[in-house]
Amino acid sequence: MRPFSGVAITRRTILAGAAASLASLSTTHQTLAAGIPARLIAAPGRQALEFGKATRLVDTWSYNGTVPGPLLRYHVGDRLEVLFENRLDEPTSVHWHGLRPPNAMDGAAPLTQAPVEPGGSMNYAFDLADAGTYWYHTHFRGWNQQDRGLYGILIVDERKPFKVDRDVLLVLDDWVIDRGGRLDTDLGQMHEWAHAGRLGNLATINGSANAAVPLTPGERVRFRLVNVANAQIFALLFPGHAPVVIAEDGNPVAPRAVGEEPLILGPGQRVDLVLDATGKAGSIYPIKAYTLTDEVTLGQFAYRDEPGGSGLIGTEVTPLEANARPALAIAEARRIELRMEGGAMGRMRGAMMGGRMVGMRDLVANGRVWAFNGVAGDMETPLVSLKRGESVVVDLINDTAFPHAMHLHGMHFREIERNGVPVDGPWRDTTVMAPDDRVSIAFAAETAGKWMLHCHMIEHQAGGMMTFVDVKGDAA
Ligand code: C2O
Ligand code: CU
Repeated sequence: MRPFSGVAITRRTILAGAAASLASLSTTHQTLAAGIPARLIAAPGRQALEFGKATRLVDTWSYNGTVPGPLLRYHVGDRLEVLFENRLDEPTSVHWHGLRPPNAMDGAAPLTQAPVEPGGSMNYAFDLADAGTYWYHTHFRGWNQQDRGLYGILIVDERKPFKVDRDVLLVLDDWVIDRGGRLDTDLGQMHEWAHAGRLGNLATINGSANAAVPLTPGERVRFRLVNVANAQIFALLFPGHAPVVIAEDGNPVAPRAVGEEPLILGPGQRVDLVLDATGKAGSIYPIKAYTLTDEVTLGQFAYRDEPGGSGLIGTEVTPLEANARPALAIAEARRIELRMEGGAMGRMRGAMMGGRMVGMRDLVANGRVWAFNGVAGDMETPLVSLKRGESVVVDLINDTAFPHAMHLHGMHFREIERNGVPVDGPWRDTTVMAPDDRVSIAFAAETAGKWMLHCHMIEHQAGGMMTFVDVKGDAA
């Protein structure tokens, strides 16, 4: 089954197939532990990407010289303190995806802060209330900056350590690599913006195409998967294995085995899996995915010869300790509609831009090819003003020919209805919608401030799929 059949194929993908040699997994990004303020420096850099047999140096923009940037790792209840410095020649900001900081620390420039100018710096500091797998990335001209590599992973460990033999991070990205092996920097193409967004021709796990993820026979591993691609959706398959989902977007869920259906991971989403290494010594199993355009082999599980593990495999997977959640009063909640429009093959004929109605030609000339409720990306008026503490339901209606990954800042939501069917969804911060999907999300307006709600396909966001909710009240 192709989970996204019907999606326009706009870009040929050439992915390193199973025939390519096993590249060893680079897991070298250094960890910056809690306790000392971390220093994050955004600057141009170079990164070795492994393409099948060859290793190529690719020009990137990164945090502290590596893509992904340094792994920031804390315990729940710790305080994040990051001294951020901008050594790029354009303004930037850092957003903490999935975390719930005070509004001024959200990094959503220019809505919640002025962007940090070249040569400038900013201190980000806030308390980490939730355990889980999160990430950080630029939130200014992301279609340019995030594509070049400005992102990193942030892990908040549970109070009580979760029992596994190893904890392994798998960062999924896709890149557009030109014939000469360089990162294609022809960014900002309207064709991509009006279609599925920027889709790559080289998918990587931790910077390696066709990565070999080592497994020791008999061990139990927690895998943390993060999709940091601009626009790509990965629908993952793990043949020969039966991983169990324990968290989505950082939030613990009742453990659930991944069945035959692929596990969908949209841009910005995370999933934590428990995988028992039940394969034989020396064996190899592919890690496969459907993308928006293709069926690919992302890498392999490569079994070591020596067995190991502490005897956890085969035992029941217990749930992670839940994060504290606000009360949701769905019955009394305010209901808001958010109609997503535009894009190629869409029905949109015009939208509001700069306070007036303009036609498609003017919209395209201004890079605004998508709209929410008839407004193409203007950030002057909120979608809704909320009182702190009140609950709201947003009915998301995808009236476009493309899938989208809708993301809310600062608060987590639950899906309560999908295409007319009531659901009891987990807490998440990003949800994937297929063309014509209707998804209702509910959240409590926990924290005062202006919180963005946008498509995490960065070209769609930049092209008009963004708005915000304004939570009135005292800043927490
Ligand atoms: Cu991960 Cu507004 O973004
Ligand atoms: Cu989108």
